[in-house]
Amino acid sequence: MRIGILTGGGDCPGLNAVIRAVVRSAYLHGDAVVGFRDGWGGVLDGSCVELPIDRVAGILPRGGTILGTSRRSALEHRDVVAQRFREQRLDGLIAVGGNGTLFAAHELSADLPIVGVPKTIDNDISGTDRTFGFDTAVHIATEAIDRLHTTAESHYRNQIVEVMGRNAGWIALHAGLAGGADVILVPERPFDLEEVAERVLARRRRGRSFSIIVVAEGAAPLGGELVTKGRDDPLGRPLLGGIGHWLERELEERTGAETRAVVLGHVQRGGTPTAYDRVLASRLGQRAHLAVKEGRFGTMAALRSSRIELVPLIEATVPKLVSDEELELAEAFLG
Ligand code: F6P
Repeated sequence: MRIGILTGGGDCPGLNAVIRAVVRSAYLHGDAVVGFRDGWGGVLDGSCVELPIDRVAGILPRGGTILGTSRRSALEHRDVVAQRFREQRLDGLIAVGGNGTLFAAHELSADLPIVGVPKTIDNDISGTDRTFGFDTAVHIATEAIDRLHTTAESHYRNQIVEVMGRNAGWIALHAGLAGGADVILVPERPFDLEEVAERVLARRRRGRSFSIIVVAEGAAPLGGELVTKGRDDPLGRPLLGGIGHWLERELEERTGAETRAVVLGHVQRGGTPTAYDRVLASRLGQRAHLAVKEGRFGTMAALRSSRIELVPLIEATVPKLVSDEELELAEAFLG
């Protein structure tokens, strides 16, 4: 068999582990793998590279993706994609990506042999219990919170930590809980600024002279707007970022205490994946290759409990958000 692979959307620690797993599994079965550069962009432009077993040696611990990535979509170019399948004599294509990449994979899989692998540090893809990259991002954010804790405490400050998470607050929730945050603000639930300030003040009245506030980039005040960088990404979505600094001013004014904000940004996406993400990504890549061999197209490899299973790709197109229940449970650990 000859199998294509692409990595699309924002990069994520563990992508190279998936590529390596696909190539190694293919090698064991006598299959060839061709990698498309820059996500769907490489399919549209015909830009690809052969991936023999030697090409993936040593890439397991490397962050990013050796294939490059982009947010270009192939949705409007079904004919070009089909042409590329013929040119490359592909028996199947493995699309590794987030909501956008997998939505295109789902649509195109109606008449093309495509299998998906979910990835994103945001962990906001339905159909899978966990996406690889998330554990690494939470680990990085938690370490940052730990470090900010000691400086906030020494200066009696409010310390704000802005983390990624466009529509979903998974990173904020998990890193906030792991780092012992006092306030966690997520996109799923608009926050009341006065209430946040009151929480910080109440803590001070109890003798706790500093507070840690974790805010997802997509969180917004009740009745307020998302804070953006004032320009769009290639998909036309506003680039988020800045809610932390907005909060810095507002909280300092309302609490009378020095307040500082740190934006973790792409630090959360870079560098080596955790052991957990390496293993998860490897298992997903191997399952995706076997899915192509079994002709299970239109599916994606997913983590269900502790098993790797194939689920319909359409499940990936539904965003997975933090529920009210999870937020209520977290309350016990805040403040
Ligand atoms: O999709 C993952 C993500 O990390 C989001 O949380 C964030 O909004 C976005 O990517 C930013 O990506 P970029 O700056 O690369 O466009």
